[in-house]
Amino acid sequence: MKNQRTPEYPVHKQFVKRWSPRALSGEPVTKEQLMTLFEAAKWAPSSYNNQPWRFVYAMRDTPAWSTFMNLLGQFNQQWCQNGAALVLVCAKKNFEHNNKPSRTHEFDTGAAWMSLALQGSLSKLVVHGMEGFDYDRARTELGIPDDCDIECMVAIGKKGKKSRLPKELRKNEFPNQRKKVSEIVFEGRYQG
Ligand SMILES: Cc1cc2nc3c(=O)[nH]c(=O)nc-3n(C[C@H](O)[C@H](O)[C@H](O)COP(=O)(O)O)c2cc1C
Repeated sequence: MKNQRTPEYPVHKQFVKRWSPRALSGEPVTKEQLMTLFEAAKWAPSSYNNQPWRFVYAMRDTPAWSTFMNLLGQFNQQWCQNGAALVLVCAKKNFEHNNKPSRTHEFDTGAAWMSLALQGSLSKLVVHGMEGFDYDRARTELGIPDDCDIECMVAIGKKGKKSRLPKELRKNEFPNQRKKVSEIVFEGRYQG
């Protein structure tokens, strides 16, 4: 099958089963469901266990929802309007223990986001990362301090029918493929 994801090596199925749908149902998720995702994120590893990740969220049908939605680019707005929550992912730049810059704050926060995404997939929720939003306005409108990098926005919701999507988005509504392991892994010295 064209859209089938087949791993080259044996891995737990959760890694290949997670993907980023855009078709959302418009149904709400509970605060408990949302907090479960942040719980998964918080157990990610980080340099010096600094836990630099910070999450700012808005749930549908709350006053903050429209502020978050208005930060999104048009492309993302058209499918996120059926989402249940939007989350801004940030990374604190400095270590807490000495206030010196951390090299890995974004790497660590990436790990936390992936835990959140995998838990979402295990909880049968859509979790879809986005860079298509206004980073500068997000900083001012959501009060993100200068010592925090803004990394990504995340749409969360219940999966909906493909027919809910605008026509031009339907053709890409399937799990995509990946490079081969041999294209991304090098023994001894970088190649490419
Ligand atoms: C940091 C980041 C930014 C992304 N930005 C967008 C975006 O603005 N809009 C969108 O529809 N998808 C966005 N995506 C989704 C990616 O296109 C998707 O993760 C990628 O094609 C791999 O597909 P998969 O997540 O279904 O495995 C983003 C994903 C990440 C991780």
